[in-house]
Amino acid sequence: MSIVLGIESSCDETGIAIVRNGVEVIANEVASQIDIHREFGGVVPEIASRQHTTIISQLTEKVLAEAGIRIKDIDGIAATQGPGLMGALLVGLCFGKALAYAWKKPFVPVHHIEGHLFSVFLGEARPEFPLLALVVSGGHTQLIHWEAPHQYTILGATRDDAVGESFDKVARLLNLPYPGGPSIQRAAEGGNPEAFDFPRAMMGRNTLDFSYSGLKTAVLYALQAGDLCVADVAASFQHAAVDALVRKTQQALDQTGLSRLALAGGVAANRLLRDRLMAECNATVYLPPFKYCIDNGAMIAAAACSRLDLGLTGDLSTVANPNLPFTSLA
Ligand SMILES: Nc1ncnc2c1ncn2[C@@H]1O[C@H](COP(=O)(O)OP(=O)(O)OP(=O)(O)O)[C@@H](O)[C@H]1O
Ligand SMILES: [Mg+2]
Repeated sequence: MSIVLGIESSCDETGIAIVRNGVEVIANEVASQIDIHREFGGVVPEIASRQHTTIISQLTEKVLAEAGIRIKDIDGIAATQGPGLMGALLVGLCFGKALAYAWKKPFVPVHHIEGHLFSVFLGEARPEFPLLALVVSGGHTQLIHWEAPHQYTILGATRDDAVGESFDKVARLLNLPYPGGPSIQRAAEGGNPEAFDFPRAMMGRNTLDFSYSGLKTAVLYALQAGDLCVADVAASFQHAAVDALVRKTQQALDQTGLSRLALAGGVAANRLLRDRLMAECNATVYLPPFKYCIDNGAMIAAAACSRLDLGLTGDLSTVANPNLPFTSLA
């Protein structure tokens, strides 16, 4: 049982949070850089690193003040080790290691995707193991057999674009603002999801892998063919993207016999996906609260609380790794 300070800086959000026992968020702040990167249509790595550097100290002080906790009363300091942008990761990891060194606290490095997974424990209903996890984010689309807190088997993954990436790319084709997921969800509200029959790749095959690049290309070709209603294209794209996720997830549930499903990652904020998984999948579905779907420090602290309790800590020799593999009990 522990109180952990979590630091997330793998991409364009600086997230700092304090979490008790892996489930109770005492304070959480996310400084998003979206407005800074929007004019470039995506994240500029060098700008992201500099922005993390500028804000990380004051954000940490703010979180400590909100929590009413002194750093000497924290049991561990955690930071994202990878994957992500090297410069951005380095800022959070070095800051976390420096705090741990100065205050003689254990340092807990966390895999970014493990962080996303542990966001489901920040919701009202907390799952028991084992469960199936669907991770859907800007860089990942994975079905994971989550056997125990830090024990994973990847059952399927995207072979090309991640689903969040496809939302971002299609939004750009439609001239909708970055990030694409929320923009497409909003644009789709008045649209007809049946207006276009966009492809669902890899269906009916004996694999739990995904593919999203063909869907993006199909949208491109449709747009090149004529002047189309943006709402209809957005709704039809979202319908196809979500349909593939729901169908593959049910296939994975059938194959594994698992009866619990956790959803995690930025695309877990998508309402259609949440609603359809709840309505159509033959499992009890565990969802992270909306604010813990996109990158944040609370999910990193939650994963680290569990690691700390099991003695799975790092030390000052831990290095940032932009391509950190997702392995059990690393
Ligand atoms: N409501 C939504 N519907 C669909 N997609 C969404 C929604 N909200 C956010 N997203 C998508 O989520 C992604 C951001 O999620 P996240 O912050 O987890 O990605 P990341 O950290 O960049 O990638 P990764 O976690 O794989 O390293 C973006 O692609 C964004 O478009
Ligand atoms: Mg993420």
